[in-house]
Amino acid sequence: MEFSPDVFLNHLAQTSPHPLLIPIERAEGIYLYSPDGKKYIDLISGIAVSNIGHRHPQVVQAIKAQLDKHLHVMAYGEYIQSAPNLLAKKLAELLPANLNCVYFVNSGTEANEGALKLAKRFTGRTEIISFHKSYHGSTHGSLSVSGNEVKKNAFRPLLPEVRFIEFNNPLDLKQITDKTACVIVETIQGDAGVRIPSREYLHALRKKCSETGALLILDEIQCGMGRTGKLFAFEHYGIVPDILTIAKAFGGGLPIGAFISSKEIMNSLTYDPMLGHITTFGGNPVCCASALATLNVIEEDKLLDQVERKGKLIENLLQHSGIREIRRIGLLFAIDFDSADRVQKIVEEAIKNGVICFWFLSCPNSFRIAPPLTISDEQIATACDVIKKAIDKAYS
Ligand SMILES: Cc1ncc(COP(=O)(O)O)c(C=O)c1O
Repeated sequence: MEFSPDVFLNHLAQTSPHPLLIPIERAEGIYLYSPDGKKYIDLISGIAVSNIGHRHPQVVQAIKAQLDKHLHVMAYGEYIQSAPNLLAKKLAELLPANLNCVYFVNSGTEANEGALKLAKRFTGRTEIISFHKSYHGSTHGSLSVSGNEVKKNAFRPLLPEVRFIEFNNPLDLKQITDKTACVIVETIQGDAGVRIPSREYLHALRKKCSETGALLILDEIQCGMGRTGKLFAFEHYGIVPDILTIAKAFGGGLPIGAFISSKEIMNSLTYDPMLGHITTFGGNPVCCASALATLNVIEEDKLLDQVERKGKLIENLLQHSGIREIRRIGLLFAIDFDSADRVQKIVEEAIKNGVICFWFLSCPNSFRIAPPLTISDEQIATACDVIKKAIDKAYS
């Protein structure tokens, strides 16, 4: 019963007609294990979550320590608890001076919901600018600012006054005006198939937002937490957002997200009306303890120092005449082929042979690779060998 496909398919809501249906009993480091002993390399980190591997011992220990103190005690924002306090202090130390005030939530989409409300409230404006092919989450607000028309259409009406512009196209920046409350953008577009903007573009975007008074929201839910080789991807570009959103890998495997801004901006949710944004479970102490341990692991194990070298190693090992393009920043890859059908065959074959790769939401001709940053050179070689054989087979 534990791993019954019948229960899974009939009693758990399904997100697609063709789930992977791989039974997973436990996970450790870069590996997932099935009850029959089959071992998989998780080359996507559970979609950009397990950046420090599964069940990192320091994270497990921090969770256990918090379990022995207390679990939930009160809805967000009333009692002083050590875990959220310590995590907020750590974030303020790691981030630029204007990102000194954090609101903890439970997921990525919630972080973006909070950020959008905050921007509207602070600026007193209503228009939001977002980007074609972006993905910001599945709740109504985040879906409204996501770029995938097919996924959105069935759920209209969505938020009004949302405009979409082209990513990395400086000509479109003129659409940002003094009517714009905020621009929400993934620093690196993830589900569009790893689209990396130019330095000049992001500087022009930052400048335009500052000139018009529109707040710049950087969504680093997928590309943050060391994935690109810096703790936050915006550090590659020398720009700073007005609001930063994070989630996924932030919790080290537990659900937590956050939107972060200056204290001045964040105060607009506190007054007039008070309780401008509320959540029961946001800042859950166990999740905060896990997130703090995760940040400490990234720092103490100097994981960021190895990201670029490992990324290059994978890129070199994956050279194959069938690949059209590899788009990469750090350890975030899109591997591009001539058709979605080819991608389907390669991903299925790789999984069959114990290496988990996965698709993108808005880029059917590519598959994603985003391994734990802790992956070793030997494990990289093994995984790349499996993928190359899968590519060979798809072209045979
Ligand atoms: C860039 C980005 N923003 C937001 C989200 C939504 O996060 P969640 O699934 O935790 O709601 C995702 C999830 O894939 C994402 O990649």
